Amino acid sequence: MTLDEVRAKYLAFFKEQGHAIIPSSSLVPQNDPTTLFTGSGMQPLVPYLLGKNHPAGSRLVDSQKCFRSMDIEEVGDNRHTTFFEMLGNWSLGDYFKQEQLRWFFTFLTDKEKGIGLDPARLYVTAFIGDKANNVPQDTESAELWQKLFSEKGVEANVVEIGSEANGYTVGMQGGRIFYYDAKKNWWSRAGVPENMPAGEPGGPDSEVFYEFTDIEHDPKWGAQCHPNCDCGRFLEIGNSVFMQYIKQEDGSFALLPKQNVDFGGGLERIVAASENSSDIFKTGTLHVLVEHIQKSAAVAYNSSKEATAAYRIIADHVRAASFLIADGVLPSNTDRGYFLRRLLRRSVRYADKLGLPAGYLASLYATVGQQYANHYPELEEDKHEIIATEEAKFRETLARGMKELERFVGQGSLSAQDAYQLVTTYGFPLELVIEEAGERGIKQIDMDGFKELLKQHQDLSRAGSEQKFKGGLADTSEATTRLHTAHHLLLKALQTVLGPHVKQRGSNITQERLRIDFSHGEKMTDEQKAEVERIVNEKIKEDIPMIRSEMAKEEAEKLGAEHEFGAKYPDRVSVYSLGPKEATEDNPMHEQAFSIEFCGGPHVAHTGELAQSGVFKIQKEEAVSAGVRRIRAVLQ
Ligand code: SER
Repeated sequence: MTLDEVRAKYLAFFKEQGHAIIPSSSLVPQNDPTTLFTGSGMQPLVPYLLGKNHPAGSRLVDSQKCFRSMDIEEVGDNRHTTFFEMLGNWSLGDYFKQEQLRWFFTFLTDKEKGIGLDPARLYVTAFIGDKANNVPQDTESAELWQKLFSEKGVEANVVEIGSEANGYTVGMQGGRIFYYDAKKNWWSRAGVPENMPAGEPGGPDSEVFYEFTDIEHDPKWGAQCHPNCDCGRFLEIGNSVFMQYIKQEDGSFALLPKQNVDFGGGLERIVAASENSSDIFKTGTLHVLVEHIQKSAAVAYNSSKEATAAYRIIADHVRAASFLIADGVLPSNTDRGYFLRRLLRRSVRYADKLGLPAGYLASLYATVGQQYANHYPELEEDKHEIIATEEAKFRETLARGMKELERFVGQGSLSAQDAYQLVTTYGFPLELVIEEAGERGIKQIDMDGFKELLKQHQDLSRAGSEQKFKGGLADTSEATTRLHTAHHLLLKALQTVLGPHVKQRGSNITQERLRIDFSHGEKMTDEQKAEVERIVNEKIKEDIPMIRSEMAKEEAEKLGAEHEFGAKYPDRVSVYSLGPKEATEDNPMHEQAFSIEFCGGPHVAHTGELAQSGVFKIQKEEAVSAGVRRIRAVLQ
């Protein structure tokens, strides 16, 4: 069955159960500044899961485009992709567990209405319960599953696999229905209950796994195999979330006004199960892309582990990039553009490994379009040039990096910092640095130091869209975090010196400097700049605390919290206030704060930490447009 067929069958199946088919939202979230990408089917529906009435009714079904930036490094195995289509059906306070589990099971196993999977290949999970948060064990789901399997004549024992703490070491135990802890069977956008901010909805879930009997368990992933094991024998093909709870201000959980179902299943994975193919790159459109690449590559898909991974990375990344481009994203160094750039640059590197000709990648845009344009017409417009241009730019950067490398030849060794620069500034993968350096007689590379620097860099990239979920910085390195706090001090200092008409109009922070755009009609005098610097440095010296609080948007507005002109905020917001000295999280003393802003963080705990980077200095003050000025400032 093709992707188109399975997608159409799923939509038709749930339509028959009274669901309205709704279109996929863009990968770029609309009216939601708190997150970079649409990463799950439920994301565009959050307001409705929280209780708002949906215009299409209380039963909805769709196939949603999703992009998960945190999975970039995972791609290369038989099942991970950054872009995927998530089939979703929702009950907004309508049906619940009984209908949901039966319908999905019927869709999976029925030959006529569904895709006719062998029920004996299916394994399911349910939530073991969480005493600390007063959430009971989901015995109802386990019992429903027992009934469904027994109707098909399949034995279904219920077993407990327990918690992450025991390493899930007890294995299959002859079970079909497995109880797992919150790490595996609780769903919210922020993960386990403890990580959820107040106001966030979540709930226990029940997942279905398909077993590929051709894959032998690899003990590298643990002594015993089990449905959630990473060896690839079991593939998760659907997740029914019982979205019942909302996290409260005091950390406890309350029931949502409506008991919802949020179901999500990876379309490609369901197709792979229907074909009993343990490699999703051998099914559907990914297979078409792999075949296309194979025509121009020097090595075949299955010729080696490395080649297979390279094929998978290119197919996934270029497909994701094409969808992002079709939704209006352009390559850049920040936010969404940064992830698009990363996808394309990684693809170039792997294209070289496969011996694909320079400029080849852009041709895949049309292949993606042919596969998807009937369902996603936004891919019809030809935008392959964006990929071609980015590849050309990257190749120039690589060439400059090679020259840079020549500079080190004389020294016979490469410092951690130099290697790191080649990797981050010029986009060299490490093995390329080692290879090229080796060829030039540089045998010694400070690998330990390099790895340390790289780890910091990776922590920072991983922060990506998930951090942004809370409306904060994508880059959470120490240097950037300090400049972020300096940014708050600066805005207040500008208002103090220039007047209350000063409002933030834009901002951009890197590890090296901060930039703020603000409303003000004239050039600042030298005296004004000196006074602003003095205030900021004084506040750094005072070592006042930075306190984060969550509250209703109205409350934050009442407190006069600053927000960026034109930005939209959710009903519950995170607010940062600076000072007074005695303020604590329990007693934030907002009224007496030096500054208070709508903000997702992160920030330092005390302004004194900024002094470790240096003294606050304005480097430049200039006009950006009529009535808007820009300051570039550093801590040095
Ligand atoms: N929200 C759940 C998920 O993304 C189910 O749709 O897995």
